[in-house]
Formats: sequence, C-alpha cells, structure tokens
Amino acid sequence: MTIKIAPSLLSADFAQLKEEIQTITRAGADLLHLDIMDGHFVPNLTFGVPVVTSIAKHATIPMDAHLMVANPDVYIEPLAGLGVQYFSFHIEAVAHSHRMIEKIKSHNMQAGVAINPGTPITILNYLLSDLDFVLIMSVNPGFSGQSFIPSALRKIEFLNKYRNENGLMFEIEVDGGINAETIRPVVNAGVDIVVAGAHVFGSKDYIKSIETLRI
Ligand code: DX5
Ligand code: ZN
Repeated sequence: MTIKIAPSLLSADFAQLKEEIQTITRAGADLLHLDIMDGHFVPNLTFGVPVVTSIAKHATIPMDAHLMVANPDVYIEPLAGLGVQYFSFHIEAVAHSHRMIEKIKSHNMQAGVAINPGTPITILNYLLSDLDFVLIMSVNPGFSGQSFIPSALRKIEFLNKYRNENGLMFEIEVDGGINAETIRPVVNAGVDIVVAGAHVFGSKDYIKSIETLRI
C-alpha cells in the first residue's frame, strides 16, 4: 500500500512560502498540510484564510487543512472556496461534531476529525461510518519538533482493525514527531497519511527526507 506524505508548512520558512511549496512539491510531497492555529484552542498562532489564499495560488497538490481552532465552523466555507480538499477539526473543540462533518462534506471536502493524545479513541465510535479520515495526534498540538507519543500507535491499530471489521474506507492520518525511526511503527500499525514537519523542512535535502519516509 502506498502511504501519502503530507509535509507540514508549519516548519517551512514563512518568508519564502512560495518557494517552499514549489520545492516540497517537486520533492514528491503528496499533500500540503496546513496547520491553522488560533492561539485559543492551542497555545500558538499561525495563519488563517488570508495566508491560505496566497498558498492556494501555488499549491498544485491537494491542501490538507488541520484546524486547531476553537471555532472551526467558520473556516469551512472559505477554505472550500480556496480548493482545500482535506478538512479536519478537533473533536475536543466542538459540541456538534456530526453536524460539522455533514457541513464539510456538503462543501465537497474530505471530512476528518483530529484527536489529541489524551482523548480516548472510543469518542469517535459513532462518527467513524461518516468520516472520510481520522487524524491521530501523536504530539500535543501547537508546535512542530516535538517527540512522538507511543500511545498513538494503539489508536491507529484500533482504527485499522475497526475499519477492516466494519467494511469502512476512512483514511488514517498521523501527525507529530514523525521521522526515520517513528515511520516504521506507524506504517505497521496501518496508517495511510503521514504528516511530517521538522523531519522534512529541517533537512537540507527535501527529496531525501521524504524518501526516508517511503518504506
Ligand atoms: C502540531 C502540528 C503538526 C506539526 C508536526 O500541532 O499539527 O502538523 O507541524 O510537526 P513535526 O512533524 O515536526 O512534529
Ligand atoms: Zn497538523
């Protein structure tokens, strides 16, 4: 099975976003992971719709928006309008998760739920048949360059087993602390999409660093 690699622009040089997008795309990235943080849901602030508008002009691969915000609802329409294909919101942030999923799908985006390391995976049980993908956080959201939290592997294994047993097709994405060492266990656990920030953008050779994740 082919794994999709989604480099996270959070680790790119924000003053050179156009070049970073072009270089990472030529290096073989499958998706462009966009970490949208509001300084409320997570203790960091990144970018919102105006910057994604500029990014979208140079994105030739699908954009994967990861909403780490208290109110993801207001981003659905503008991000869909910019051509974002994957949209995930945090289960910890919203009261009406099922309604959110329906709304994301009605805007023709892949609907995903992201889940923090401390949140039990069983909270998703009644949503899994409606989801296009699940984003397992393997670090506490907010920053790149943190260490992989091993309990994420049990969540990936659970989801992989669940979808096989129930004939579901949702994709499993993992985000945080992925590098040449942690890639093997997440792939073995059954992941489909791998986000990588520091490992890719922190290296001099993006082609090589992406290649090390294709095992
Ligand atoms: C963390 C973000 C991640 C982050 C991953 O809150 O959601 O996407 O950029 O960075 P690394 O791969 O460096 O852990
Ligand atoms: Zn992310």
